[in-house]
Amino acid sequence: PTEKDWVANHLHQYQGFWHTTRQLQAVLACQRHFQAEDSDILLVTTPKSGTTWLKAMVFALMNRDRYPNNNDHHPLLSENPHVLVPFLELRLYIDGRVGDFTTFTSPRLFGTHLPLGSLPETVKNLPCKLVYLCRNPKDTLASLWHFTNKLRKKGMGMGTNSLEWSFDKFTRGVSLYGPFWDHVLEYWKESLENPERVLFLKYEDMKEQPKVQVSKLAKFLGRPFSLQEVTNGALDGILKLCSFENLSNLEVNKTGKLDTGEDFNTFFRQGEVGDAKNLLTPQMIEELDQITREKLHGYGLKF
Ligand code: A3P
Repeated sequence: PTEKDWVANHLHQYQGFWHTTRQLQAVLACQRHFQAEDSDILLVTTPKSGTTWLKAMVFALMNRDRYPNNNDHHPLLSENPHVLVPFLELRLYIDGRVGDFTTFTSPRLFGTHLPLGSLPETVKNLPCKLVYLCRNPKDTLASLWHFTNKLRKKGMGMGTNSLEWSFDKFTRGVSLYGPFWDHVLEYWKESLENPERVLFLKYEDMKEQPKVQVSKLAKFLGRPFSLQEVTNGALDGILKLCSFENLSNLEVNKTGKLDTGEDFNTFFRQGEVGDAKNLLTPQMIEELDQITREKLHGYGLKF
């Protein structure tokens, strides 16, 4: 497989979910080689649901003693969140080499898109914490379509995937780490059964009530905000530091790139709720809403 495989059309189904060839190798490498630690924190997301934002917020709140956010040297001002909190499956397997995490300080923070059932055994067997973030499927699909086509065009000089083609694949569950609904439901059920292990968050709630959601996140990770931190602006400072406006305008995020080739700026587009209506037709929206109602029916989860 080559770099191009990242957004090529060849997907393989493994343990019920779809992966590119390169991703699948990475998933298998994780399952074979990753050694979890009790204190590990995994930030699990469906692609394009706000992974970059979540990584920034968890990094900022877990490191707030070391780097108060009014500090000019805060790592988030000069590094992209995907560098500070790497993807488990990408970092562990790049170009055939198995990565090394021994230099990470505890608690180690990782991002991942792995479905619950595909998590490495060591993660399943240890009391690691999992923060799950998802986003309504319409905006997720819209964001994914823009992202994929940007990568295809910029990185590879390839043509655009038509919206109809992408919509058809997504609704049939054949998308990166899809079926989308299965991914979300597995973690939703786990969060109900094991609330001290899995915290379930939605992008829309984070946009609507950022203070409430980030306070919940901090408490879940064992680092609750004190009253003093709320009144002295520490909580507000983290929200501002991690905001779309701030992160997307930083030089590093405008010009840098991941060592796997993706420009950091492809992770920042609009950062709004409801943008799908500017892309999808009313019929597509109706169809997606209908599928979502059917798939989630009876589980107490709504978008
Ligand atoms: P849009 O394409 O709708 O703008 P991911 O990080 O999982 O790849 O998701 C990318 C989506 O999150 C993009 O959505 C991007 O603009 C948005 N995003 C990135 N940083 C954000 C932030 N700090 N706050 C809110 N949304 C953000």
